[in-house]
Amino acid sequence: MKSRSVVLGLAALSASLVLCLAGALAASAEKGKAAYLQHGCWQCHGYQGQGGIAGAKLAPNPIPFETLSNFVRTTNRAMPPYREEILSNDDLADIYAYLQSIPKDPDPNSIPLLNP
Ligand code: HEC
Repeated sequence: MKSRSVVLGLAALSASLVLCLAGALAASAEKGKAAYLQHGCWQCHGYQGQGGIAGAKLAPNPIPFETLSNFVRTTNRAMPPYREEILSNDDLADIYAYLQSIPKDPDPNSIPLLNP
């Protein structure tokens, strides 16, 4: 009996973990791209977050979400802060999903032209 309730407990635990993950994945890269354009991130960081003269590189391999979100909310240096009234948490999560969806650069060793 005891081991059965342990198994049930584990099943419930893993079910709730799956739900948590589904919540975290609910952010949409497609909506994020629209928000990234709408909020003008592209003007300084480039359409693909590749960075530009004005802004740092954001993708591929974006910095952790907490770091990015803290920065975006509180920066007071060269980048203007985007407070929640202007850029909602949902939009920011979507923007992050968009940045995460940008494909990584290929390994230079895998490009024949670079390896004669
Ligand atoms: C007016 C130009 C400009 C716009 C618009 C802009 N940024 Fe930036 N951003 C910058 C600059 C410049 C930096 C580097 C600032 C610094 O180091 O103080 C930066 C830095 C960042 C960083 C930190 C990068 C790192 O690796 O530390 C993040 C994240 C970021 N921007 C995200 C965004 C997002 C998301 C948007 C749109 C909501 C946005 N930025 C819009 C200019 C801009």
